[in-house]
Amino acid sequence: MTVVLGIETSCDETAAAVVDENFHVRSSIIESSIDQHRAFGGVVPELAGRAHVTTLGPVVARALDEAGLDPHHPAIDAVAVTSGPGLIGSLLVGLSAAKAYALAWGVPFVGVNHLEGHLFAPLLERSDLEWPLMTLLVSGGHSMLVLQSGPGTHQVLGETIDDAAGEAYDKVARWLGLGYPGGPVIDALAQQGDASALTLPVSMTGSDFNLSFSGLKTAVVRASARHADVALADVAASFQAAVAEQLLRKLRRALEVHEVKGVALAGGVAANSALRAGVSALADEFSLACHLPTLAMCTDNAAMIAAAGLYRFQAHGASSLELSAEPNWQLAHV
Ligand code: KG4
Ligand code: ZN
Repeated sequence: MTVVLGIETSCDETAAAVVDENFHVRSSIIESSIDQHRAFGGVVPELAGRAHVTTLGPVVARALDEAGLDPHHPAIDAVAVTSGPGLIGSLLVGLSAAKAYALAWGVPFVGVNHLEGHLFAPLLERSDLEWPLMTLLVSGGHSMLVLQSGPGTHQVLGETIDDAAGEAYDKVARWLGLGYPGGPVIDALAQQGDASALTLPVSMTGSDFNLSFSGLKTAVVRASARHADVALADVAASFQAAVAEQLLRKLRRALEVHEVKGVALAGGVAANSALRAGVSALADEFSLACHLPTLAMCTDNAAMIAAAGLYRFQAHGASSLELSAEPNWQLAHV
C-alpha cells in the first residue's frame, strides 16, 4: 500500500497529512498563523514564512504520530509538497523541509501544484466520484472554472481577469471594517440581510467563462458610502448575491456547453453558504452528482496535497531534488 506524507505551506496554513493509495486520510494537521495577520488586514508574507519555520517540524511529527508512524523512520513511500503557486518565502520553507525529509528517509519527493491539490479534495471525501466533473475553484488567490475529465486531467475553461472571489470578500470586509478574513463574516451577516437593498452591476455577461470581481468590489464600496443608511447586513447580502450570481451564471453556462457527470466546489470560498446552496440547486436541475467538500477540506490543507502528490507520483514518478518554488505556477501549465 503506497502511503504519502503531504506538506502544505503556500500561504498562512502550515499543514501536514498522511494519505494512502485508496485516498484514505490517515491524519491531517493544520496550524494557521492567521492571528498574526489579522491586524494587517491580510497575510503578511514575512510573518507567514517565519511562522512556517517554527511550526512545520512539530506539525509533521504530529501528522506522522496520528497516522501511527514512527516520526524518525516513518513507513511512507513519498513526500509530496506544494511547490507553487503561493508566497515565495512560505513555499521555500515547505519545499526545503520536504526535500530534507525525503533525503533523510531515502524516499522520493514530489512537487505539487496547490490548485491541483484543491481539485483532489472531493476525491478524499467521495469514493464514488464519476467523471467528467465541472469544478468551480474559488479561493483567496484564485477563481476558475475547471473541466476535469479524470484525476489529474483538467482544462481551465475560464478564470478571473482581476481579483479572486475570496480576495474581493476580504477587501470589501476590510473596507466595511469587518476584519480579516472577510468571507466568513460577510457570509454570516449576509444571511440576515436583504440582498435587494443595493443595486449592483452584473459583471462578465459575455458567453466566455472568465470572471471578474474588481468592479463589483468597487461598486459595493461606493454604493454603501452613498447609501449610508443601508444596514451592514443588507450591504453584505447584496454583495454576496452579486458574487454568487456571477459564479452560478458561468457555471450554468459551462454545464450547458459541456456534458459532465457531476459538479464540485473547491477552495476557501466553497465554504460560502449562498454558493453551496446555488451549486446544489444547479446540480439538481441538471441531474448531476454534487460534491461540496466539508469546510475543512475546502480551505488549505495537506491531505489534498498528499492526494495530488500520490497521483502525480504514480502517473509521472518523482520530482527532481533540483525543483524550485514557482510562486506563479498556473494550473493550465501543470
Ligand atoms: O483556499 P483558501 O483557504 O486560501 C487560499 O488559497 O486563498 O481560501 C481563503 C479565502 C479567503 O479569501 C476567505 O475570505 C474566503 O476564502 N472564505 C470565504 C468564506 N470562508 C472563507 N468566502 C466567502 N464565504 C465564506 N463563507
Ligand atoms: Zn488554497
